[in-house]
Order: sequence, then C-alpha cells, then structure tokens
Amino acid sequence: MRVLSGIQPTGRFHWGNYFGAIRQYIELQNEDEAYYFIANLHALTTIREPKELQQNTLDAVLDLLALGLDPDRATLFIQSDIPEASELCWLLMSGTPMGLLERCVSYKDKVAKGLAANAGLFTYPVLQAADILIYDADIVPVGQDQVQHVEVCRDIAQSFNHHFGETFILPKPRVLEATAKVPGTDGEKMSKSYDNTIEIFEPLKPQRKKIMRVTTDSRPMEDPKEPESDHLYQLYACFANQADLEAMANKYRAGGFGYGEVKKAIADASEDYFAEARARREELEAQPDRIREILGDGANCARKKAAEVLRRAQDACGVKG
Ligand code: ADP
Ligand code: TRP
Repeated sequence: MRVLSGIQPTGRFHWGNYFGAIRQYIELQNEDEAYYFIANLHALTTIREPKELQQNTLDAVLDLLALGLDPDRATLFIQSDIPEASELCWLLMSGTPMGLLERCVSYKDKVAKGLAANAGLFTYPVLQAADILIYDADIVPVGQDQVQHVEVCRDIAQSFNHHFGETFILPKPRVLEATAKVPGTDGEKMSKSYDNTIEIFEPLKPQRKKIMRVTTDSRPMEDPKEPESDHLYQLYACFANQADLEAMANKYRAGGFGYGEVKKAIADASEDYFAEARARREELEAQPDRIREILGDGANCARKKAAEVLRRAQDACGVKG
C-alpha cells in the first residue's frame, strides 16, 4: 500500500494541522511506502513573496522532521522538485470539466475571503490530483477539508481511465474522525485564515498566555457541563491520555470547577506532548547540510516513480514523452 500526502507551507503549522494531518503521516510512515511533500507550488497561489515562500518551505520541512517524520521510512521532498507532476497536471487539465472545479468549496471560500481569483487557485485541485496520481498512491491522509479534493482526484482519474484505458490507481482519503476539526482559540475550526491558531512550535510563554485567553462559554462555573461539546475539552482530548481525560470529563459533569483549570491542563499537557519535538527541531536547525541531503534523496526517489507514471499517462493519451 502506498501512502501520499502534501501540505502547504503557508505559515507555521498549528495544532489543527498536526492532529488533523501530520500525526497521520507519522503513523502511516510504517506502511509499505510513504511519500510526503511540501506543496510550495500550491502555496504560490496565495504567497507572492519569494523570501517568505522559501523560508516557510524550510520551516515546514524542519517541523515535519522534528515531529517525527523519519526520512529512512518515508520519502520527504519539495513539490517543485518534481516537474513531472506539473506536466501530468496539464494532461489531466485537458479532460477536467469546468463544473467539477466550480463545485470545489475551498476555491469558493478563498475567493469569498477576498483572495484574488487567479487561474492557479481555480485549477488547484487538478495539480493536487496530479500530485497524488503520479505516485500511484492508494491512501491520502488529510484533514476533513481536503476530502473533496481527493474525491475530485478520483473523478479525474476515473474519467481519464475511462477515456484512455486503465492508467491510474484510484486513491482513497483517510481522515481521523476524532480530530477532523480541531477547534481554535475562538472555538471555531482552527485555521490560519481565521487567525485563531496555536502554533506547535511557538515559544512556550506566549503560547501559554494564548491558551489562557481561549474563549469560554458564558455558563456559570458551577453548572454541570457536557464535556464533548466544549471546545476546551476537545483541545484537552488531543493531548490527554485516557485516564486523565476520563477524570476531566467527570469534573465537567460534576460542575463547580473553572475553565482556568482546563486551560492550565491543556498548557501543561501540550508542553509535555511536544517537548521532544521542540528539542529535535533545535538540533535540526543547526544541520542545514543534512536537511539538503534528505530533500535531495527524497526528490530523487520521488522523481523515479513520477517519471514512470508520467510515461504511462503520456503513452495512454498519445503524446510523446
Ligand atoms: P489552514 O486551514 O490553517 O490553512 P491547511 O488548509 O493548510 O490549514 O491544512 C493543512 C492540513 O491540515 C489539511 O490536511 C487540513 O485538512 C488539516 N487541518 C487544518 N486545520 C485543521 C483543523 N482545525 N482540524 C483538523 N485538521 C486540520
Ligand atoms: N491541498 C492540500 C492542503 O491545502 C495540500 C496538497 C497539495 C495535497 N497536494 C496534495 C494534499 C496531494 C494531499 C495530496 O492541505
């Protein structure tokens, strides 16, 4: 089974990215083959500052490695190092109905938020489909909001196969239901675009302050509360072990305790949870040559596979490779 996923370097990764997507990458790297990449070409649809894009890309690599992505088990690379995927994107584009892309909520959301409606943003799911199909991926671990893009990829692959003969494997999205929508500091879905994120590696002191300022509901402290519906409890659940979580749930049900206590528990548990990763990140920052080597090896390995699938697609649709 081959696993593949990509993540955009549009800012420092936050708890939502980790529990929705990155944690799955790390679990799944023990499968037969795993490919993970930093989607810098996708980020180009929104980041127009070259230095910022470059720095974000490096930060994303360091974050993933620090969080446990192991280059001896998984192939880690930068999207733009594999030009074959952009070439495949064009082959797919020519058979992609406009209506399929018009239905994509992420495009509509971004434009509604005031982003310029450029062609890259509109055709974003086709490049994503190429990214997936070019590695013959079976499983694509993502957060809930990316499921539609994987379904679009399946549609595109299916119609290519139908028209030109069996060429692509149809991939399946994989979502961790329990953490498909990690809440942010305002209780809404945590997202860079809502300015409500808690970044994984932000310095501990300001991070703790931020946690203590997470919005709470207005019910009096004394009232018993249903834990599952509270976003603070949901955040705590990301970090706590089963016994601690059970104990916290009982406190909610009994009432008479303050939200400050849950916030403190979240701050303590998250500090412990990411302590090793923080230390590892510092070590990695001091090893630029090693990072270059990891990315070079990753790109070589990914390109081999990509060239093979691109050739298959070129043969199928009658263009010369
Ligand atoms: P953002 O919404 O902050 O811009 P991205 O869209 O770059 O994040 O998401 C990168 C990955 O992280 C995707 O697979 C996405 O589904 C997942 N993800 C993002 N935010 C959350 C969240 N709050 N809960 C669960 N998964 C998330
Ligand atoms: N669109 C994804 C996101 O915003 C990133 C991405 C690009 C991706 N190509 C991919 C995810 C291929 C999975 C598979 O998070």
